[in-house]
Formats: sequence, structure tokens, C-alpha cells
Amino acid sequence: MRIGILGSGLMGGKLGTLFARAGHDVVFSYARSEQKLKKLARDAKGKARAGTPRQAAQEADAILLAVHWSRVDDVLQQAGDVSGKVMVSCSLPMNADDSDLVIAHTSSGAEALAKKLPKARVVSAFGTVPSEVLFDVFEARRRATKPSLVYCGDDASSKQVAAQLIRDVGFDPVDAGPLRIARYTEPFTLLIAQLAYEGDQGPELAYRFEWR
Ligand SMILES: NC(=O)c1ccc[n+]([C@@H]2O[C@H](COP(=O)([O-])OP(=O)(O)OC[C@H]3O[C@@H](n4cnc5c(N)ncnc54)[C@H](OP(=O)(O)O)[C@@H]3O)[C@@H](O)[C@H]2O)c1
Repeated sequence: MRIGILGSGLMGGKLGTLFARAGHDVVFSYARSEQKLKKLARDAKGKARAGTPRQAAQEADAILLAVHWSRVDDVLQQAGDVSGKVMVSCSLPMNADDSDLVIAHTSSGAEALAKKLPKARVVSAFGTVPSEVLFDVFEARRRATKPSLVYCGDDASSKQVAAQLIRDVGFDPVDAGPLRIARYTEPFTLLIAQLAYEGDQGPELAYRFEWR
């Protein structure tokens, strides 16, 4: 699959690297230095290259949106027309100092994004785990017991794409339903962040749901 990364920071840089290692064709875009994008592409050791947001988006079968909420409009404007594209978003609607959600209860960042991009096929995924755990989960991907990762969206075929990417990174995808369920998954992430960054066991934290 051709995957365009919009936002090559902690999440986009790591997920793009893992997608490339899983055999996908990845374009890293949107960082403050082109050198960083080129280094990410080199270090990914797969089919990866640096590009502009437009190149990343236009040539992609799936796009990963991984920017701070305050940068969403800017990166989307640079990406151009994303009609019909699978848009997997891990971006949370956080305020400037990342202390609180600016959209919650009656809507979600994912729904706000879908409103901005009515012709894209938005799936909310990967935003419920800290970036620090991603490589560890990938290393352990062949183990029988995998951590869960919830995702939600309104378009069945784009959810299948997201579920495949989730599996490729080493998680067990858990379909949480329509996009409006992001109203619950986004605040859930603040719980995960609390445990990861304020707890005393470190940020390499994943979660697992068990049906007994
Ligand atoms: N970090 C996590 O563990 C985590 C977990 C769950 C969800 N999320 C969500 O995922 C999204 C991405 O988070 P992140 O931690 O990956 O953020 P990040 O590390 O700050 O990455 C954001 C990317 O955007 C780029 N960028 C920012 N301003 C820019 C500008 N003016 N021009 C060009 N590029 C610019 C950054 O460039 P540089 O590379 O040059 O800094 C970076 O590559 C956020 O919405 C966050 O809430 C994060």
C-alpha cells in the first residue's frame, strides 16, 4: 500500500517507519526540516522517501494525519484535494499546551476532521497509545497475545485498510463502531497519557481488552 504521512514527528515518524518495515511504500512529509524527513526515509530501511504534503497525499492509498491539532488546517491546505482518500487520523483535538481536549462530549476531533473533509474517508486510529510503545509492539508482533487498538469510522472499506495497518504494527484491531465513538476514544487517550506520563512505570504502555 502507498501511505502518505502528514506530520513526521513522534507518531508519524514512528508509524511511517513501521509501515515501511511492514512492506508499505511510505512518503514522509511535514516537518520543519527536509533533512529530518530524508533521514526518517533512510532509517526506515524499506520503501520510504521524503516528500511534500501534496506528494504524500496525492500518491497515497492511505494517508496518516499526525500533526498537532493547531496544524491540521495548514497541513491539509498543503496536501490539496483528498477526496476519496482513506484518511487515518491519530491527531487529537488538544489545546496549545496539550493539557485538555478542545472538542469533546458533543463531538470529537475525528468528526470535526470529517466535517472539514466531507469527501475523504476518515478513520480514527493509533491515537490511543503513546508513541513510545510503538516499536516495542512491532517487535513483539508475532506473539499470540497482542495489545488492543481501538479504531472507529463510518466507511467500511477504509476501516478495513486501517485494521490492516493496525495489524501490521502489531496490535489487535478493535472496531469500536462509527466515527462518533471518537467522542469516547479521544478522552480515553487522556487516561492512557496520565498512566504513561504521570505514572511511575514509564510511557511504554499499551492496553488490551479481554472478552471473557
Ligand atoms: N506523541 C504521542 O504519543 C501521541 C499519542 C497519541 C496521539 N497523538 C496525537 O498525534 C498527533 C501528532 O503528535 P506527535 O506527538 O507526533 O507530534 P509532533 O512530534 O510534534 O509531530 C508533529 C509533526 O508536525 C511537524 N510540524 C509542526 N509544525 C510545523 C510547521 N509549522 N511546519 C511544518 N511541520 C510542522 C513537526 O515538525 P518537526 O518534526 O520539525 O518537529 C512534526 O514532524 C497530535 O495530534 C497528538 O495529539 C500523539
